[in-house]
Amino acid sequence: MIQQRERTLVLIKPDGVQRSLIGEIIRRYERTGLKLAALKFFIPSEELIEKQYSSHEGWLESTGRKSIAAYEKKGLRPPFNDAIQCGKAVLARLIKYLSSGPVVVMVWEGNQAVGVVRKVTGGTEPLTSDVGTIRGDLTVDSYDLADSGDRAVRNLIHASGSPAEAEKEIPIWFKKDEIVKYNIIQEKILYDVNLDGIKE
Ligand code: CDP
Ligand code: MG
Repeated sequence: MIQQRERTLVLIKPDGVQRSLIGEIIRRYERTGLKLAALKFFIPSEELIEKQYSSHEGWLESTGRKSIAAYEKKGLRPPFNDAIQCGKAVLARLIKYLSSGPVVVMVWEGNQAVGVVRKVTGGTEPLTSDVGTIRGDLTVDSYDLADSGDRAVRNLIHASGSPAEAEKEIPIWFKKDEIVKYNIIQEKILYDVNLDGIKE
């Protein structure tokens, strides 16, 4: 039954809050059948944001590499040739973005929670995220526009990239006793092998 309890961290970034999309975004996760296990609303400090992204070994380098590749694809020279330096530049933009106003932080739980949330959220760049996803449907930002303003891509959501990432991220935002353990009636329909109790 381990998969049924997989957890993931989801954060509605300041642009999502400012655009009054909190309800719309939560609705999309809620109707999947995943269970809300924790929720907070506050303005995060720069330190907290740094901790969130620095908690992943290799994140600076892999993000930097992706950023260099995006510049090169456009025929542009990246600001730094070194991937870690480029990753640090992305991190500085992210810290500014995510500490600019209140955010909603949540833990969602259920079978393959990480993958389900990523699927509903959509790819990183809203311009190319699939139609039907939160990022694809609800905003229009692109790497080009973000780079031209020396800012992070405003894509409404942070969602853990893997179960290992989620395990590291959740304790950064929530104490153990802030994660609520409870049953939700629809778990019977989602997971109960016998489906009993429906017929009169
Ligand atoms: O959020 P996601 O897991 O899809 O992407 P990421 O590669 O882990 O990057 C984290 C966040 O950094 C993104 O959601 C963007 O807001 C921002 N980012 C950016 O502004 N420019 C990049 N070249 C890469 C990421
Ligand atoms: Mg990520």
